Amino acid sequence: MESFVNLFSTGRIKQMEIKNRVFMAPMVRNYADAQGFITPRYTAHIRSIASGGVGAMILEASFVSDEGKGFANELGIHRDECLPGLRDLVEAAHRYGAVIGPQLYHAGRQTASAISGMQPVAPSAIPDPTINEVPRVLEMDEIHRIVEAYAQGAGRAREAGCDFVEIHGAHGYLITQFLSPFSNRREDDYGGTPGKRIRFLEEVYRAVRQAVGNNYPVIVRLSGDEMVPGGLGVEDCIAIAQRLEEWGADALHVSAGNYASYELGYMISPMAIEDGPLVPLAQHIKGRVNIPVITVGKIRHPELAEEILSTGKADFIALGRPFLADPEWPSKAKAGRTEEINRCIACNQGCITRLFAQQDVWCTVNPQTGREEIFATPLPVIKQKVLVAGGGPAGMSAAKVLAERGHQVVLCEELKDLGGQLIAAAIPPYRSGWELLRSYLVGEMARLGIDVRLNTKATADMAQQEGFDSAIVAVGAHPVRLNIPGIQHANVVVGRDVLEGHSQAKGKVVVAGGGCAGAQTAEYLAVLGHEVSIVEMLGEIAQDAPRAERELLLGRLQKMGVKLMNNTKIMSIGENKVSIESPAGLAELPADTVVICLGSAPNDGIADALQKVVSHTVKTGDAVRPRKVTEAIEEGALEALKI
Ligand SMILES: Cc1cc2nc3c(=O)[nH]c(=O)nc-3n(C[C@H](O)[C@H](O)[C@H](O)COP(=O)(O)O)c2cc1C
Ligand code: SF4
Repeated sequence: MESFVNLFSTGRIKQMEIKNRVFMAPMVRNYADAQGFITPRYTAHIRSIASGGVGAMILEASFVSDEGKGFANELGIHRDECLPGLRDLVEAAHRYGAVIGPQLYHAGRQTASAISGMQPVAPSAIPDPTINEVPRVLEMDEIHRIVEAYAQGAGRAREAGCDFVEIHGAHGYLITQFLSPFSNRREDDYGGTPGKRIRFLEEVYRAVRQAVGNNYPVIVRLSGDEMVPGGLGVEDCIAIAQRLEEWGADALHVSAGNYASYELGYMISPMAIEDGPLVPLAQHIKGRVNIPVITVGKIRHPELAEEILSTGKADFIALGRPFLADPEWPSKAKAGRTEEINRCIACNQGCITRLFAQQDVWCTVNPQTGREEIFATPLPVIKQKVLVAGGGPAGMSAAKVLAERGHQVVLCEELKDLGGQLIAAAIPPYRSGWELLRSYLVGEMARLGIDVRLNTKATADMAQQEGFDSAIVAVGAHPVRLNIPGIQHANVVVGRDVLEGHSQAKGKVVVAGGGCAGAQTAEYLAVLGHEVSIVEMLGEIAQDAPRAERELLLGRLQKMGVKLMNNTKIMSIGENKVSIESPAGLAELPADTVVICLGSAPNDGIADALQKVVSHTVKTGDAVRPRKVTEAIEEGALEALKI
């Protein structure tokens, strides 16, 4: 039975027919080579998404000239040498009936000389507040050269067989830098008034149009609201959108924000932001233009996508991270198999946090993302009987891959539920994404017919009796209790136990350890009405949280009056107080309960005992070294792949 009639109705932009209303949003992956050329890894990744039923694929921001490169292994469309790789991507998309096109872009000041090898350029010598590198002001002849570079990029796209191009006029990159008084203080023909600030975009648009011809679809991505003081507001963006329509742009793609407003959480929304936050913006702009509008941003559920389309809020839906989480999102939705969709949980751990660190993009919930070639290895000829000890993220990830590759899997979990640390992680406010992941993995265990044994600790005796060929030990980690005087007092409890309901906090609470987990536990307790202080030895609270997530969390904590004490050490714990030392000196805090969130250490587990009876025994995930869920899931899957 086919579901979601609007979502899977044919769409059209100019004469380009799109088999459904689903776009893949542009996302830099850092999978290209150092020069910006497409790699086999890139092609395999794009092929995987194309085969999952997407209608239109916008390739990542592709720099049109060298100084406009924004990430270490970003795609370029700056030279003719890009053409063979681009043709491979076109071929991959067309094979599955998807249309494809690049996003033409220049980073302007939103890059660093460490990446591009040269001083960033911009309309004015104002550094981006998050990058802080003073850009070089573009001279007139350079502006003309860059306009020409956009046109050449568009020409290459057309030559390679792409179906459309998108001009990146959003997110504070060079085009927005010209458009916005936030970054443009020029007093020549390119700045000073809205009419002059739009000139660069007009020249780029017209040059691109000339390069591709009148019948070729040209989409423009805009930030519908820049969300910075002194920047472009909604009405400014509507005026720009209307000019684009007059010039002949074929569709608008409405995002929001720039680097300076990234922390507000609207450009790449974290868990704490509601679903579909930018839909009202797209709807508003759609009401003021007559060309198709694409909406984007945390549209993870096909039901929401269908509702947006059926109520006429937008003409197309773009999904970014949902395609990293599950390339088969469209085909599963179309077939009504929505419960099988591996949802993006908006954790931002695997994708954008890695990208901002100049690493390649992974996906926490999908270890195959960016590893499509590795996972395409032929299925093993000899099927094994494999014991997986531990039903947390690493264990379930390993069990899933093993079962998908035809092995017989027994998954033993000591506790009564699968999920490991995902269970506690999902409990603080705004963290329900982790439950989405847990229930997906639990569902996969059932769908794949894995022999799950709850309340069962794997032992060497059992392994010997049942004759396993291999064992993967994914027994996780346990919370550490540092050697602080008084830590044995009855008022000291472990954060994870509090979240899972095994321990209670009373009265005034001091949370010892202000990493991400400690800060989230503090929020949970503050919402319950406790007076909470966080004591953290390092310079910052929640420093291991993804960027926007962190800012939002700290804002909420401050609003609730949670005392944030960084650079502070707990010297000792008493019956109802803790002694602390901070740069201000020694002090005491009232503490009816002290909640320990001081990190974790690998469980000893049973690896050594199992090793004696199962020849191939490996440890994985936190049982090796405690890290994030992203690493646990990736490692579990990769260990499974070796069997
Ligand atoms: C890893 C990553 C890279 C991105 N790169 C781009 C890009 O190249 N160009 C762009 O316009 N937006 C980029 N974005 C933003 C996405 O296109 C999209 O607007 C955003 O992720 C929100 O949609 P989603 O919730 O469906 O992911 C990127 C987002 C992510 C997560
Ligand atoms: S890493 Fe997290 S936010 Fe990024 S795509 Fe995967 S699930 Fe979504």
